Amino acid sequence: MKYDALFQSFNFKSGIEIENRIVMAPMTHFASNDDGSISDAELKYYSERANGPGLIITACANVTANGKAFPGQPAVDRDEMITGLRTLAETIKKNGAKAVLQIHHGGRECPPELVPNGDVVSASDVESSQGVQARALKEEEVAEIIRAFGEATRRAIEAGFDGVEIHGANGYLLQQFFSPFSNRRNDKWGGSLEKRLSFPMAIVDEVKNAVSAHAKEPFLIGYRLSPEEPHEPGITMKETFTLLDALVEKDLDYIHISLQEFWSKPRRGTTDTRSRIEIIQERIGDKVPVIGVGSIYTAEDAIKAKETNIPLIALGRELIIEPHWVEKIKAGEEATIQTALKKDDQERLVIPAQLWQAIVNAPGWFPFN
Ligand SMILES: Cc1cc2nc3c(=O)[nH]c(=O)nc-3n(C[C@H](O)[C@H](O)[C@H](O)COP(=O)(O)O)c2cc1C
Repeated sequence: MKYDALFQSFNFKSGIEIENRIVMAPMTHFASNDDGSISDAELKYYSERANGPGLIITACANVTANGKAFPGQPAVDRDEMITGLRTLAETIKKNGAKAVLQIHHGGRECPPELVPNGDVVSASDVESSQGVQARALKEEEVAEIIRAFGEATRRAIEAGFDGVEIHGANGYLLQQFFSPFSNRRNDKWGGSLEKRLSFPMAIVDEVKNAVSAHAKEPFLIGYRLSPEEPHEPGITMKETFTLLDALVEKDLDYIHISLQEFWSKPRRGTTDTRSRIEIIQERIGDKVPVIGVGSIYTAEDAIKAKETNIPLIALGRELIIEPHWVEKIKAGEEATIQTALKKDDQERLVIPAQLWQAIVNAPGWFPFN
């Protein structure tokens, strides 16, 4: 069959096996309850999409109260959240998909009204992309956040997830520590490329320790990163190679490269003119599986992406637009896959109202017919 390459099973290092090569990308839906607990609307949204992808990564969940970056963000910052998270894991897993919780701290990108006392924190006192002045974390606060990633992992295990994905991408706290733009510290957490790596690496170690201490069954650890920053100073491809080399040493289950466009080319830091994902895949080789993502809408797009030797392909917007993408290809009905939204699609596609509002208020983000 033409699309067989998408339907081979895959085994992760930790011992988890998934049925096919399609991953649901982590996507914030703004639909959890105000206290961060799981809502019925989000359960329905995942339930509608849980019959196809081998692996489903949830919306990012904040690990501390001062890491909340979105209204309606799911929280994993306290034990009371475990019951709801368990229902979420069960919903995702009901037809065999594996469930991964994305664990997150928004850092300077948190809106002041969502964090206690409006106290927005980051690596350094640098303004956010929205013009919010952040406060540099004290050393003991850095240690608390690292511990919180371990605690969040313990809660994910207790809730029955199959893994966690550490959110090191999209300009949030881990990336803020790695970036020469937002990290201007001169202590053990900043001042050189090596020291800027120490916060994300400390989190990886903490998460690994939590898994060793608490998981009784195989449990995945993935790491998501953005390969470049547009501004200077900012993360370049060259710096990303250093981050990738360090992550490879950590023996993770996967590395997920966050991109809007799978085939996008490097801006700077390399003379290689191939796409970023091809360059990264070559650098990592078969040491750690890579997940590629970005504007993959059709079965044809996915097959073409898969030909780069990337083992796993994630779909984000497309699974909002077409909840049954995988099932349709499996049934030979790929010609009926929807690749753009219609203005009255919200209910039919089981999209939570808050997510639908975010989509319609951001023209150009999603394709519309
Ligand atoms: C509604 C929406 C919410 C998102 N939320 C997250 C998130 O919580 N964590 C994350 O790492 N990426 C997030 N992303 C980025 C996606 O995971 C993905 O990288 C991006 O949309 C490009 O893939 P696509 O073209 O398949 O949508 C989000 C994207 C969308 C469309």
